[in-house]
Amino acid sequence: MLTNTKSPAYDLFSPEALANPYELYKQMRESDPVYYSESLGYWILTRYQDVEAALKDERLSADRSSLFIHQIGDLDIRLIQNFLQLIGNMMIEKDPPEHSRMRKLANQGFTTRALESWRSIIQQTTDRLLDQVQTQGYMDIVDDLSVPLPALIIAEIFGVPECDRANLIQWAADIGTLWGAPSGQNIEKLARKADAAAIQFTNLIQHLIEERRRQPGTDLISLLTIAYEAQGLDFAELPSLCILILNAGHLTTTDLIPNGVAALLTHPEQLQKLIAHPELMQSAVEEMIRYDSPAPFVFRIAKEEIVISDTTIPAGSVVALGLGAANHDPAKFTHPDQFDIARTPNEHLGFGPGVHYCLGAVLARMELAICFTTLLKRMPNLRFDVDRQAIPRHTSLVFKGFESLPILF
Ligand code: HEM
Repeated sequence: MLTNTKSPAYDLFSPEALANPYELYKQMRESDPVYYSESLGYWILTRYQDVEAALKDERLSADRSSLFIHQIGDLDIRLIQNFLQLIGNMMIEKDPPEHSRMRKLANQGFTTRALESWRSIIQQTTDRLLDQVQTQGYMDIVDDLSVPLPALIIAEIFGVPECDRANLIQWAADIGTLWGAPSGQNIEKLARKADAAAIQFTNLIQHLIEERRRQPGTDLISLLTIAYEAQGLDFAELPSLCILILNAGHLTTTDLIPNGVAALLTHPEQLQKLIAHPELMQSAVEEMIRYDSPAPFVFRIAKEEIVISDTTIPAGSVVALGLGAANHDPAKFTHPDQFDIARTPNEHLGFGPGVHYCLGAVLARMELAICFTTLLKRMPNLRFDVDRQAIPRHTSLVFKGFESLPILF
């Protein structure tokens, strides 16, 4: 985990900043746009122009495996061999040309035709979850909707049989927990769990690949299997691509839904405007991603010495690219701290442009548009539950969301 040890000049880990970092980002952008944090041990970029350029800069590597190994400290890596093999093959950690080869294959799972065929899965899953709470008049946006929705959608898009879905989601969570937070007192326990989950996850995906080779369908595993087979490649990389899609696609969407609901409820005029003008849904979704990005930072490693805005960053440095900060830069956005569902243009960096541009961006936009359209149609009287407090998450710089967001309707 990207934890704090000393008292820093800009305390990104204070509970106030984790819940609402935008004032701190503003100070950093204005006074120290290329800032080295002694306490965190990495460089932080906060200006739109610098972050966008860094995302496209081949001198910055996406291979963060050395950072992970450093973060797990004294843990015996023999305990996590299966885990390391699974995550070591994820394309999000690769640079061109290897990344380009993997990405070309992965794109074949996300064709327009495939995406359209998943639309009904998204609608039905959203309706099923809302059916469960519709008559009670209250819900927790996180527990009742945003945690289960993306995971169920991806499990179904993968074509995982219903009896295996809960296991798949649990294994992905165990793997994601060690990947996202490789430190702390429970590290050995987390590591053993993640390694066992990596074995079971890989076995299930391999079993599904064999099944789909014999009988291909329109699901994502069939499409990826066909793409690999057509190139004469073996399928060793596919479990890694599947765990990447599951975790990258699940955690971000899980956080964006409550962030978006909170933005609408704190701007009631925008909520009413969206209800009155459902045709604004696509631009509202873009604004939710800009206004309160669920992935506020992505990390890179400098392969060589780099100068950014007159500041020299030494080779080997860890660089945090502030997507959330860039998305509030007044040099790029008019009134950046205003939530405006009709904002245009809205060239936010929420999906991280560059070679690693979000593979699931079209799917995410479709999921979010269907989810919010259905929510507002079925529960137009949506409001905060004043008796039960919303709890923003307080642990990570990489994910920004809520632990709990109780609402009434
Ligand atoms: C609101 C929702 C989402 C947000 C904000 C988001 C954001 C991002 C960002 C910022 C990156 C770039 C990471 C980097 O440069 O290191 C990324 C990459 C990625 N995303 Fe998303 N994502 C979302 C939803 C999804 C969904 C639904 C899927 C798939 C089902 C997905 C799959 C991926 C994958 C596979 C990558 C890695 C691409 C590569 O390495 O070439 N994401 N996403």
